Amino acid sequence: MCGIIAYNGQDDAIPYLLEGIRNLEYRGYDSFGCAIDSKVGIIIKKDIGKVDDVINKYKIQDFSSSKAIFHTRWATHGGIKAENAHPMVDCTHRIAVAHNGIIENWAELKESLGAHRFVSDTDTEVLSHLIEEKLNDGADIQSAVKDAFNKIKGSSSFIVLDKQSDDLIAVKKGSPLVLGIAKNGNFLSSDVPSFVRHTNKVVYLSDSDMVVLGKKNYTITNLMNRDVNHDVSTVNFSYQQAEKGDYEHFMIKEIMEQPGLMKNLESADLKNVVRAAELVKHAKQVYLMGAGTSYHAAMLGAKVLRENGINAVAVQGQDLITYRKVISAEDVFILISQSGETADIINVLPLIYKNQKIGVINSEGSTLAKDVDVLIPIGAGLEKAVASTKSFTLSGVYLTFIGMFAAGRGEEAIRDLKLMNINMYNLLVPSVLSAIDKVAEKIKGLENVFFLGRDANYITALEGALKLKEVSYIHAEAIDAATFKHGPLALISDKVYAAAVVSEVTRNDMLYNLQEVKARGGNIIGISDKNENVFDMFIRTQNGGAFTFVMHAIILQLLAYKTAMLKGLDIDHPRNLAKTVTVL
Ligand code: AGP
Ligand code: GLU
Repeated sequence: MCGIIAYNGQDDAIPYLLEGIRNLEYRGYDSFGCAIDSKVGIIIKKDIGKVDDVINKYKIQDFSSSKAIFHTRWATHGGIKAENAHPMVDCTHRIAVAHNGIIENWAELKESLGAHRFVSDTDTEVLSHLIEEKLNDGADIQSAVKDAFNKIKGSSSFIVLDKQSDDLIAVKKGSPLVLGIAKNGNFLSSDVPSFVRHTNKVVYLSDSDMVVLGKKNYTITNLMNRDVNHDVSTVNFSYQQAEKGDYEHFMIKEIMEQPGLMKNLESADLKNVVRAAELVKHAKQVYLMGAGTSYHAAMLGAKVLRENGINAVAVQGQDLITYRKVISAEDVFILISQSGETADIINVLPLIYKNQKIGVINSEGSTLAKDVDVLIPIGAGLEKAVASTKSFTLSGVYLTFIGMFAAGRGEEAIRDLKLMNINMYNLLVPSVLSAIDKVAEKIKGLENVFFLGRDANYITALEGALKLKEVSYIHAEAIDAATFKHGPLALISDKVYAAAVVSEVTRNDMLYNLQEVKARGGNIIGISDKNENVFDMFIRTQNGGAFTFVMHAIILQLLAYKTAMLKGLDIDHPRNLAKTVTVL
């Protein structure tokens, strides 16, 4: 949600920022805008629509400047219209502000700024006038920004360009912001991949940091005016990861990376898995929290933990509030997130500030990653498609490790992983891919598809349904096959298709449930390691021991992808969705 990238240095900022903002498009947005420092003042260009359309409209590539901010907006306050796109200026056009987040008390602040001329309906514009107010009182730009930041409530990161200053000023709280240190200048951005082609030296900022970004140097202080010294990290992913390569979409690239990533896990450093296993073993209760796909991973993890004798429950971030009277100091939390920036989880952290926290997180410098006691980076590399794929399977594997290691079954876990990796060679073979094509062709015109499973396969079914909804816009509903007879069976007719996830542990009960669907005319797409009479269509999967869910997930991800392809949809940027959900 929202992407900000800014550069200040000795080179021309525009080519860097054009590339950078395109790399941030995956986050989801509805408008694009930029503030470019020039001899005649700050040039603002902004409009709704696709980044490239706005760039072409205003010929932004023809500008040149050593200091500029580019921004993609995902509207939270104020409609999707050009005047609401960022950056926002003050009344005198001295400063421009680009913002990611929500100013919760914007209405009252706006009221207190009655004399100022507001030109948008956004919460963000309050910032530019608050800063202006302080500048009018004679404050310097740094104190004016600090003052504004102290007045706003909620999660926000923003960058300010002041035409009277050589510096850019930025503040972070809650929303993501990182600093990139390049040879001839410095970047500020919502994420590292947007500038990783130009530097792999990164400073992960903390909440309440204020950065003064000069052309050569930078300083970081906190809002108490104390100097802050963060380490400079060297990131280990290359810019190729931020590109599609030979693939048509990031989603398919990321799906196809999974076999390699699973193989890499065989030599992964599991020291933090062992630490996490120790923590959960001695916990009174383990809560696993995630949102969307990461919640499905949490469900999977909670089930594995329970099966290994640990009292565990999966909770969606927003729901933790209902547990506040039962949470005790001996409870351990496992936070699962690809981005590490999901607001539903960050928002409830104050409730559990005393508890031990384990992070199963992809983005290592993220807000959540910084807040946990034991960090397990899942090592998925950059995931750009809005629909999460590899981060689901990798989180699921790490959570399974934690459960099995806690029960002294670490060796068995590694053995199963190796077994899965061997069987993976038979998963994505031409016959299976063409079976998926046939099913995609069949379901592409449907309005509804059911996904059925029992036990862990129900969780994979939930994830398969979410993927299909997200990228193909087909209504998909996952139902625990055991509960079908308690109501949903009424929906079955010969026009209905149900994708059934079947594996050894639940096979007999599942086949029994499927017969009930079949008897009422339903069409069954079997996703299983064995073909069965009850299936009308069949996609073969493979056994992966404790990690069979990975095999199922990959098939279901491919089914969603191929269906969306046949429908000609914008697969990497599904309508209305954002990759990093930083609002509640
Ligand atoms: C996944 O396909 C979704 N786009 C979404 O549900 C996502 O998993 C959710 O927003 C949580 O994101 P996170 O893993 O970055 O916390
Ligand atoms: N709340 C701001 C707006 O609606 C910023 C949204 C964003 O983070 O893109 O304009």
